[in-house]
Amino acid sequence: MKKLTPYLLIFLTLFWFGFGSDKPQLTPEELLSARVDSVLSLMSLDEKIGQLNQLSYGIGWGPTVKVSVPNEYKELIKEGKIGSFLNAIGAEFTYELQKIAVNESRLKIPLIFGLDVIHGFKTIFPVPLGEAATWQPEIIEMSAHYQALEAASAGIHWTFSPMVDIARDPRWGRIMEGSGEDPYLGSLMAAARVRGYQENLSNLNIIACAKHYAGYGGAEGGRDYNTVDFSERTFRDVYLPPFKAAVDAGAHTIMASFNEIGGIPSSGSKRLLTDILRDEWGFKGFVVSDWNSIGELINHGFASDLKHAGQISLNAGLDMDMESRSYITHLKELEDEGKVDEDLIDESVKRILRVKFMLGLFDDPYRYCQKEREQKNIMTDEVRIAALEVAKRSMVLLKNEKNILPLKKTYKRIGVIGPLANSKTHPLGGWSAMGDSVDVTTVLEGLKNYVDKKIDIAYAEGCKIDDNSTAGFKNAVNIAKKSDVVVLCLGESRDMSGEACSRSSLDLPGVQEALAKELKKTGKPIVVVLMNGRPLSIPWLNDNANAILEAWFSGVTAGEAIAKVLFGDYNPGGKLPVTFPRTVGQVPIYYNHKNTGRSGDLKNHYTSKYLDLPLTPLYPFGYGLSYTTFSLNDFNLSSGNLTEEDSIIVSVKVKNTGNYDGEEVVQLYIQDLVGSVTRPVKELKGFKKVMLKRGEEKSVQFTIHEKDLRFTTADMKFKSEPGKFKAFVGANSADALEKEFELVE
Ligand code: NOJ
Repeated sequence: MKKLTPYLLIFLTLFWFGFGSDKPQLTPEELLSARVDSVLSLMSLDEKIGQLNQLSYGIGWGPTVKVSVPNEYKELIKEGKIGSFLNAIGAEFTYELQKIAVNESRLKIPLIFGLDVIHGFKTIFPVPLGEAATWQPEIIEMSAHYQALEAASAGIHWTFSPMVDIARDPRWGRIMEGSGEDPYLGSLMAAARVRGYQENLSNLNIIACAKHYAGYGGAEGGRDYNTVDFSERTFRDVYLPPFKAAVDAGAHTIMASFNEIGGIPSSGSKRLLTDILRDEWGFKGFVVSDWNSIGELINHGFASDLKHAGQISLNAGLDMDMESRSYITHLKELEDEGKVDEDLIDESVKRILRVKFMLGLFDDPYRYCQKEREQKNIMTDEVRIAALEVAKRSMVLLKNEKNILPLKKTYKRIGVIGPLANSKTHPLGGWSAMGDSVDVTTVLEGLKNYVDKKIDIAYAEGCKIDDNSTAGFKNAVNIAKKSDVVVLCLGESRDMSGEACSRSSLDLPGVQEALAKELKKTGKPIVVVLMNGRPLSIPWLNDNANAILEAWFSGVTAGEAIAKVLFGDYNPGGKLPVTFPRTVGQVPIYYNHKNTGRSGDLKNHYTSKYLDLPLTPLYPFGYGLSYTTFSLNDFNLSSGNLTEEDSIIVSVKVKNTGNYDGEEVVQLYIQDLVGSVTRPVKELKGFKKVMLKRGEEKSVQFTIHEKDLRFTTADMKFKSEPGKFKAFVGANSADALEKEFELVE
């Protein structure tokens, strides 16, 4: 008998399951799984293992790049030994690869293409930590939507984002890629990014990958890749919630992290990958390893060799192997030896095929690789306007003495000084995909364009970001002397944060602070613009600069956004998603810490503190000023008692008491006063960003339910405990009004 073609078989299977007959209709999920099973039933063990293999193949991107697929990859694709590529970019190139899979491999299973689209594909948005400072999930969702649109138009199906690791140690360079220190804010941001990337999965969207699962941000000493060891309770209450939020928002993939937790590397942890993810949370997508994280089980001392590593990871529930080649080399042998069950391989294959079906790749494998779309959708005005909007909203005003900002349009001359003032590369930040410095507007350019020759703008670099030369100081001081105000652009280089970019110091690198000190001597007002991917310890600037604007690495529109904010076209309303310490010696320092038996009291010697520092950080979590001022009044709880069936309405009036229209983020924190286990001094439970015209007052309301008070109790259940609570409402985590209420049984 003539062999049936795979597609005919799929069709017959669908027919069998009720398509076109009067049998009961399948639900979409049943139909999907029938389609997946129909493909699986055709696959040899080798072909199954091939689906679990992801390799990297990077070529430059752009219209001038020559498309050529190396022979090794051609052969692997033909043999069905690759399920996915990362770093293969471009409509034309991904088309060439896909064509081999679809035309020359036996089962014609399409490839899936992944890339780190972390804060933009070509139009680079602010780094994720900066985006989180917007405290606007809807803005984050919009940003992810545009990032997805550009990437999807360049052949990409899948981004390795959002990075949802909670980070309480700013020495860890990857703090830049996430949403900061708080599980509540982090969860909202995680879900928003997943929604924005994935939306309804047309070819204008891409699938998300919540990473790095899990606990990666807890690296000892902030050293990247380092050992993580915290209690199950802290893990569940602090580090896991953003992953759960991403899964609940429908994230189709998760990336297993490099680190170990309490002795078990994540990439070999059945507890993480199967028990929690698949069984407890009902995750239906697939897990990809981090780059060679399966192979690194050997370095961890958890596997004896690559074969053993593959055995551990597959059995743990890790579906796709990024770059270690352990699965493709050893799984068949492991299956022969009975060390890995084919059913488990099938489970992983099904998860991957399911996502490929959901992306529509079996219907049209080329739906993401259309050259015309690529030309049309990338670096458009629309995307750039969106990036500018996000950039403006990401900025946090840390100081504004005597309302030196907004800059006056009557100034005659502005000195724009500093190693980041005219940089076209650093504003891109780390992990900037196809971002190109030619597309970046520097602060100098942004200010010049903004003032349009009406104000004289003079520039001096002053010093480099990170060397010891003070040769440029003299010129910088001369320019400052002749200016009405100095805009001093300081910070880090783009490669000081991100992967493998831990720093032992949080001070400004090089001689930047010395430059600021020289400029201060001129007596001219100094407005500092900071560009960085992590909290910096800047007490001298806080005491001596007249204003400080935290601009982060804000992407291609950095200069435009900063100019608009400095001149008051946009009144900054961002808030810190992470605590800024006074010095690195205070780290870890985060707002939702615990009380101790001897909590900080500077007057009492035997308390928990540093002898040489105040108890407080430089800027607390949730902090950020505006060109206007706000007051919070009439803070009320609808009841002093809360029950499981009921809720409490928290209300407060927020008034714009200053001279500009502006936005305030009203924040709700809760403290559980006594628990079966100790509880944090405060936990963020809600926030609202409110726009208020000059003099305007609005009422803001939050609802507290019993479920908002749940945590991992002494018996390891996730539940609330009756008793007294405090509700705090304020403009940041350190400055809040408070009232008590009780959760009654
Ligand atoms: C390693 C990084 O840890 C991860 O975040 C990234 O997605 C992969 N490499 C792929 O580039």
